[in-house]
Amino acid sequence: MSQEKLLNLLKVQKCIYPPEDFVKNANVKDYEAEYKRFLENPEKFWEEVANQLFWYKKWDKVLEWNYPYAKWFVGGKTNITVNALDKNIEKGLKNKVAFFWEDEFGNEKVVTYGELYRLVNKIANALRRAGVKKGDRVVIYMPLVVEQIAAMLACARIGAIHSVVYAGFSAPALRHRIQDAEAKLVITADVTIRRGRAIPLKQIVDEAIRDLEYVEKVVVLRRLQPKVDLIGEKEVDFYDFIKDESNYCEPEIMDAEDPLFILYTSGSTGKPKGVLHTTGGYMVGTYYSMKTVFDLKDSDIYWCTADPGWITGHSYIAYGPLLAGATQVIAEGAPNYPDPGRWWRIIEKYGVTIFYTAPTAIRMFMAAGEEWPNKYDLSSLRLLGSVGEPINPEAWLWYYRVIGKERCPIVDTWWQTETGSVMITTIDSLPMKPGKAGKPVPGVIADVVDKNGNPVEPNKGGFLVIKYPWPTMMRTIYKDKERYEKYWNTIPNCYFAGDIATKDEDGYIMVLGRADDVINVSGHRIGTMEVESALVSHPAVAEAAVIGKPHPVKGETIKAFIVLRKDHKPSEKLIEDIKYHVRMELGALAVPSEIEFVDKLPKTRSGKIMRRVLKAKELGMDPGDLSTLEE
Ligand code: PRX
Repeated sequence: MSQEKLLNLLKVQKCIYPPEDFVKNANVKDYEAEYKRFLENPEKFWEEVANQLFWYKKWDKVLEWNYPYAKWFVGGKTNITVNALDKNIEKGLKNKVAFFWEDEFGNEKVVTYGELYRLVNKIANALRRAGVKKGDRVVIYMPLVVEQIAAMLACARIGAIHSVVYAGFSAPALRHRIQDAEAKLVITADVTIRRGRAIPLKQIVDEAIRDLEYVEKVVVLRRLQPKVDLIGEKEVDFYDFIKDESNYCEPEIMDAEDPLFILYTSGSTGKPKGVLHTTGGYMVGTYYSMKTVFDLKDSDIYWCTADPGWITGHSYIAYGPLLAGATQVIAEGAPNYPDPGRWWRIIEKYGVTIFYTAPTAIRMFMAAGEEWPNKYDLSSLRLLGSVGEPINPEAWLWYYRVIGKERCPIVDTWWQTETGSVMITTIDSLPMKPGKAGKPVPGVIADVVDKNGNPVEPNKGGFLVIKYPWPTMMRTIYKDKERYEKYWNTIPNCYFAGDIATKDEDGYIMVLGRADDVINVSGHRIGTMEVESALVSHPAVAEAAVIGKPHPVKGETIKAFIVLRKDHKPSEKLIEDIKYHVRMELGALAVPSEIEFVDKLPKTRSGKIMRRVLKAKELGMDPGDLSTLEE
């Protein structure tokens, strides 16, 4: 069908039905029944999932809920890597492929569960030998390679808390995260490779850890020849570090509520938040969603295009799929390098069956043209996924038609770093409504409410909230209890993470975007305040305000309004200089694409910058109530 025909069909029937044989074979054949089963007895529902996994000791209580603090599987003892590796190997997956990895040039590496097990155990032993103990923090700043995921699992094996920092972040951003976590050890690589270029990582680490005494060791995966120099006693080669270690490392017996990882994300202040996830609930929830939302079967070849530097890569590369015994494809580098056929070539090559990516990538490929995917055989695909930002109906239909050939259901999955796993989508058997994420997954009670927590009328805008604890929920913000509590005390009796949404007559939720000062650029969360602080640290900048501006491919881009200090004049060179400064302070993803110099910024009488006034002016919209504006 053409795009127009599909659009017309949609107008008539309002939704798109998953193919009958898909539903017939789906892991959840009847969403309503599964949801009902959950509502009738939430604890029993989760207990049944937990019982599918291995525990050294079962829990005494499924849930302990002291608003807003939840404990799941209280008293339970387990280790997530024993479930992801040892138990899967016992089940016969030793020689099953865990990862097909490849780079931009098609160089590949195939790693089985048995091989991954040995690598993880060796790293874990080496970490222990280096003095890393349960509860210590390890920062992982690496490209998308198997060693990156193995390093995460190795930490989990010995109970160390990993904090993965996306390799696109700059030295100050990395330093901040290392400092906040007081990391004992950093694992990095010489370079990450993107668009055919080697981008140095180790140099950034050198700068980030300068004078940080508590960083005792830096482990460096050296990929290029000649090998990058290691300086001083702190630094050690990744493979030298693990070479004499045994293939078995005694797993740390973890309490269900022992921390598993910290992952930093942007909020509405200048300081990123260290979202903390724990062991048992996270394990149970990611395992469940892998099987249900992604309908994972033993024979699937699953490809999530995220990087483990973000939550999607944690839950749906490093943990969920391995717990569920999946075979995965991972690919380092840019989606469209050396050409826009790269991803489709990979799908054909490995026979990918489940493909999970972001709207920004879909829109980029839409712009590159259908001829690229059409060159390849995509008939292995059976399920598509989307994550990170709202997917507009046009992009949804293109994805459905051109990639899924109108055969593959699409799960538009709404969730967050804080929620740990998918919360809203059209699980398996549910009809899809392009542009609307769908319904809460079984295990989740979601709603759209006003500021007092009362449900809004169908199709009216409101705040998207979760009304009942769930196993993969974050347990706190590292060292910042107040910021954690704010999620639960902004709207009475609900978790509110900052999105606005609508809900239709059928209960389908459409996520419209953020209600706070967070910008979503290509599916990545960036705080306006973070960018503003980076801007004002430039010597020519007196004041700065940043807004998100709609963009056809990236979702949003960053525009900065800048008041210069006395004696500085606007110029093209200064714009470039300021952009470079932000790149160095935060990383490429936070660089404003537009900078406008202004004489002053709109402020409230109390001196707060009114970003919404700037935004309204920029987009030609009504600025709303201006009574608090100073002038
Ligand atoms: O605004 C929502 C948007 O991304 C935010 C969460 O960002 P992050 O913690 O980085 O996690 C992204 C990957 C899970 C949300 O508050 N978002 C995420 N998925 C969707 C979405 N917006 C609309 N539809 C989605 N499917």
